[in-house]
Amino acid sequence: MCRLEGKVAFITGGAAGAGEATARLFVHHGAKVVIADIRDELGRTVANSIGPDDVITYVHCDVCQENDVRSAVDLAVSKYGRLDVMFNNAAVIHRNRTRITDVDAADFDRVLNVNLAGVFLGIKHAARVMTAAAGRRGGSIINNGSVATVVGGVAPHAYIASKSAAAELGQHGIRVNSISSFGYATALACEFFRMEGKQIEQLFGPVLRAEDIAHAAIYLGSDESGFVSGHNLVIDGAFTTVNNGFGLFKQ
Ligand SMILES: NC(=O)c1ccc[n+]([C@@H]2O[C@H](COP(=O)([O-])OP(=O)(O)OC[C@H]3O[C@@H](n4cnc5c(N)ncnc54)[C@H](O)[C@@H]3O)[C@@H](O)[C@H]2O)c1
Repeated sequence: MCRLEGKVAFITGGAAGAGEATARLFVHHGAKVVIADIRDELGRTVANSIGPDDVITYVHCDVCQENDVRSAVDLAVSKYGRLDVMFNNAAVIHRNRTRITDVDAADFDRVLNVNLAGVFLGIKHAARVMTAAAGRRGGSIINNGSVATVVGGVAPHAYIASKSAAAELGQHGIRVNSISSFGYATALACEFFRMEGKQIEQLFGPVLRAEDIAHAAIYLGSDESGFVSGHNLVIDGAFTTVNNGFGLFKQ
């Protein structure tokens, strides 16, 4: 079943991890996809491995740079004719310093720049082309959050602050939702924990995969979630429903 037939999606941070997994699943379900990243060689290789140019395109786009975001979003529209789904997925984290007194201001700035300003620019330029589309209403904007939006103390301060996003574009039929997941083994998680992917899997258990984020994104991106907006879809195997400090349940 092609759940995204006829739709065009833009995925930031699409060269790896959850963005790559989402790009693969979206194309599999009939969408045309633009993946935007700053790792050009990897991004092009990933796009080529997913499908031909009339289905998927890689574009260099630093989400912190408004000109990059504007022209990358415009490219999606000029190449594939429209924009239906914006997945603001690109993010960075800084090394595991959870005490505020240890956090470098430069690291804080860098994380907020990508994770907060980058999401703002993604929402802004997606909304610009979605609302301007003649004779058509609607669109789906998905922001990749984290369990850090729900519970404190699981990531550095800048990362937590950058993961709370909201918007009201409902008058144009545009839905805005976020996905907040538990951890899974990607470059971002490796940087935070200073571990290899396999070690992270041992830490978290091989439970959550980047593909699980892609499955949530396909639901939020498709018409199946037509009346879902302003929602934070938590994918955490119930991690945030328990007070982990009490240690009543083994994970
Ligand atoms: N891995 C986890 O444990 C975990 C847990 C919860 C939430 N998340 C969220 O999932 C999303 C995807 O993360 P991931 O784990 O797949 O990470 P990842 O490191 O595998 O992928 C992130 C991608 O973003 C790109 N990127 C970084 N800065 C960019 C910029 N300025 N402009 C454009 N692209 C940029 C990177 O090059 C990379 O390809 C992020 O929003 C992250 O916060 C991850």
